[in-house]
Amino acid sequence: MIDWMVTEMVEEYTKICAEADISEGEVRTFDINGRPIAVAKYEGNIYAVDDICTHDGGDLGEGDVIKGQIQCPRHGARFDLKTGEVTRMPAVFAIETHEVKIVAGEVYVAVPA
Ligand code: FES
Repeated sequence: MIDWMVTEMVEEYTKICAEADISEGEVRTFDINGRPIAVAKYEGNIYAVDDICTHDGGDLGEGDVIKGQIQCPRHGARFDLKTGEVTRMPAVFAIETHEVKIVAGEVYVAVPA
């Protein structure tokens, strides 16, 4: 019974690109399990967040990386890349973040199927 519960909670990692394919300060978007994900590099670390702004659906993958935050291109809301928390209005709800791991220079992101 417990095995079943654990299996349901496991997120699969999906290989999306080489680590070198994302430049410092760049944001790229990927479709992972049918879900748009924005992937950004800041201070050498790669972060993955939902690509949809919680304010009004802006495309965060078209936004900018500013001091560890991603800024929505529509009205300027910002979200912490590590936690997804809102750091600047007009958004008030956090975005979802996703686990990232680097294996042999390749970027893997865990997104629920
Ligand atoms: S849609 Fe993102 S700030 Fe308005």
